[in-house]
Amino acid sequence: MNAAPKQPLAPPPRNPYLARMTAPLIDPFARAITYLRVSVTDRCDFRCVYCMSENMTFLPKADLLSLEELDRLCSVFVGLGVQKLRITGGEPLVRKGILTFFQRMSRHLDSGALKELTLTTNGSQLARYAPQLAACGVRRVNVSLDTLDPAKFARITRWGRLPQVMDGIAAARAAGMRVKINAVALKGVNEDELFTLTEWCAQGGHDLTFIEVMPMGDLGNEDRLDQYWSLKDLRARLATRFALTDLTDRSGGPARYVRLEETGQKIGFITPLSHNFCESCNRVRLTCTGELYMCLGQEDRADLRAPLRAAPADDAAVEQAIRRAILHKPKGHDFDYSRQTVAGQVTRHMSHTGG
Ligand code: GTP
Ligand code: 5AD
Ligand code: SF4
Repeated sequence: MNAAPKQPLAPPPRNPYLARMTAPLIDPFARAITYLRVSVTDRCDFRCVYCMSENMTFLPKADLLSLEELDRLCSVFVGLGVQKLRITGGEPLVRKGILTFFQRMSRHLDSGALKELTLTTNGSQLARYAPQLAACGVRRVNVSLDTLDPAKFARITRWGRLPQVMDGIAAARAAGMRVKINAVALKGVNEDELFTLTEWCAQGGHDLTFIEVMPMGDLGNEDRLDQYWSLKDLRARLATRFALTDLTDRSGGPARYVRLEETGQKIGFITPLSHNFCESCNRVRLTCTGELYMCLGQEDRADLRAPLRAAPADDAAVEQAIRRAILHKPKGHDFDYSRQTVAGQVTRHMSHTGG
């Protein structure tokens, strides 16, 4: 009797778990999500006027995710294709035990899954932490600094003192990290420091990025329209002194860069108001209570804490919640000052999601 002809072997059934873990995170606008910003605390030792009100009510400590839970969540994101992890706050370095968290995250650098582990900080604690951060594989750090004038610095940050931040920046450089200065462009406040800030960064070998002020938080009697200094104007003023060459380099963030030919330094522009960059958005934001915000300028968010705590030993539900959330990522923010009014304002303070 003839044996039945051999059927070609069917491919083995795909392991659904592995398939899930390798499918990248793609949002409804075909943007791949590869950048996670993690706010590890909503607290801060400064009270910058455009970021917080003077009397902030902070989240009860009991609501915070533990550092172990944050580790678990970040690791699931890394498994889903996140390559850049930025730790923010509030001020990330005021969270107790934060170095342990950086140490744990550095295993994803060692494995090659993560390309960059970094932080955005006000610099106040850097003098203390810079060497250990560098040892965790942090190669560059973004420090917020809008002015070089100590009195103005104290006015903008309310509680901050400039020398402490300068020491922090020096410590970061001494530890071998690159420093990028983030300066919010504020009309009538730091307009007069455009060239001094630029030259100071050139001398210190720091990159510099300017940011347009966004209408976030309880604006009260603060007028963002009055403070708003368009980076189109700032750039034009810079061009009166320097030759600017547009660069195609990207850091994975929203900035567009130019090189100043005279100094060779790189200057970035973050222009949510004058030139929307949402179409190339690659990021989402995790808060310290486990909420995932899909856009800085919208309220859409998903709770990841409940699925995280419901199944302490199984990440499948967390992964599903992340995938569902990404399907709701909005197209972009609605910030707009063009009609001489503040439109698209978000009442959440910037410190809630860390920028
Ligand atoms: P690099 O890795 O150096 O490019 O940093 P980054 O720009 O991604 O991070 P950083 O924390 O320095 O961000 C600077 C500021 O840019 C943030 O604090 C926000 O104010 C703004 N920003 C970052 N991402 C977004 C975004 O998706 N939308 C808007 N509107 N602003 C953003
Ligand atoms: N608009 C623009 N940038 C802001 N930042 C804080 N609040 C605002 C705002 N309303 C910046 C800080 C810091 C980063 C975390 O966000 O200067 O660089
Ligand atoms: Fe703190 Fe940064 Fe907000 Fe200033 S901008 S209050 S330093 S979190």
